[in-house]
Amino acid sequence: MAKERRSAFVCSSCGHDEAKWLGRCPSCGEWNTFKEVRLAPSSSGSRPSLRTEKTRQKLSEVDPSPPQKHPTGIEELDRVLGGGLSPGAAVLLGGEPGIGKSTLMLQVAAALPGQGLYVSGEESPGQVKNRADRLKLPQENLDILCETDLDSLLASLETNAPDYVVVDSIQTLVSREAGAVPGTPNQLKIAGHRLTSWAKEALVPIFLIAHVTKEGTIAGPKVIEHLVDTVLYFDHSAGDLRILRASKNRMGSVDEVGLFRMSANGLLPIPDPAGLFLEHRKEGPPAGSAVAAIYEGSRILMVEIQALTVPAKGGFGRVYSDRIDASRVSRIAAVLERHAGLRLSDQDIYVNVAGGLRVSDTGAELALALALFSARAEKPLPGELVAIGEISLAGEVRQVPHLRRRIKTAADTGLSHWMAATGDEKTEGTNVERLRDAVAHLAAESVHTA
Ligand code: TYD
Ligand code: MG
Repeated sequence: MAKERRSAFVCSSCGHDEAKWLGRCPSCGEWNTFKEVRLAPSSSGSRPSLRTEKTRQKLSEVDPSPPQKHPTGIEELDRVLGGGLSPGAAVLLGGEPGIGKSTLMLQVAAALPGQGLYVSGEESPGQVKNRADRLKLPQENLDILCETDLDSLLASLETNAPDYVVVDSIQTLVSREAGAVPGTPNQLKIAGHRLTSWAKEALVPIFLIAHVTKEGTIAGPKVIEHLVDTVLYFDHSAGDLRILRASKNRMGSVDEVGLFRMSANGLLPIPDPAGLFLEHRKEGPPAGSAVAAIYEGSRILMVEIQALTVPAKGGFGRVYSDRIDASRVSRIAAVLERHAGLRLSDQDIYVNVAGGLRVSDTGAELALALALFSARAEKPLPGELVAIGEISLAGEVRQVPHLRRRIKTAADTGLSHWMAATGDEKTEGTNVERLRDAVAHLAAESVHTA
């Protein structure tokens, strides 16, 4: 990472200054006395004046410009980070064991400019090297340190600050302050706090890998989420697909997802995923399936929403849906029942999204409603149909942002017929203003089929 440091570190005991943070002042021998100070723009020839960063400032005089971001070189990660890493950024990467966290971080560490440090508490240098060889990664600018003692790690960082650090994993670190057992909540909090503080002082970006475990024998990433700038989760989808998303991001939004495929050569980015989650069937889709064009960050993805309805025992239906919020499914089912005459309250409703993506875009509500209708009426929808719209409690189909782009992207993936509140006159589609009309239209099979 290119260093444009406009700051210095000054000993609060004797005033000695250094370019990098040091644990102990070489001049007076005091420990932990270095404080970062900003260098004011120097007038030619005169010594730069120093002003401590942490002094009180008038709010009106604060420089509001965000710190510069440096791309990591892995576009799908930069997309999720919001452009790249800012100096001193602390990024937590969570995910289940085996999902590919070490693989992704080794690829990132090899791609970042500058001299990096990969701290492994789980694997030997040989194992990490083997992986880097298998992934054919450049290794010249990456050091490996196998260390599980937090104090030793911090001492090593202080004497020889790298340009960026990856800690794999934070659950292997042990601090003597917190007892001898690694992975306890207290160990995680202490390691998280001290490493992120170090990153902020040294202006060095740090990645902390943390396993998400179902058994709960070791503490999960949740206990340190509040300490870091960005929390990323690496998630499985269908097969070898991996989804990276931010659940917290001080460097940007949390709307973007990064998509990768795990291959024999590591994680490969999927830059053009519009039709990725669509399954193309020769005989057309089965009943209960409808396609939505959803907006994920800055990209549009086609997703197949699947619904199944079965008569409920005792007459009271329940909703089982984890990819779309179950309360949203209940609401759409209620609107269908009240405004489109489709009885669903005595049915158990199961909803799924093909490919395992979580859908929160309101633009998927019309497709969800049509999937429910199709399942209940046992009537397959036309294979080339994409449904785009939000559903109001009054049973209206509402227009959603980026409609034309959604229609265009759908057409590019072979979905040539749209259904929306107000579509695009230049392309083939059906305007529906009420959910009742949409359902009646499909029930009468008047939608064009190929
Ligand atoms: P890993 O990065 O070790 O996962 P984590 O650190 O999250 O536990 O990767 C785990 C799996 O990925 C492992 O089962 C092997 C597979 N893999 C590939 O398929 N291709 C590859 O190039 C690499 C390095 C791993
Ligand atoms: Mg690992």
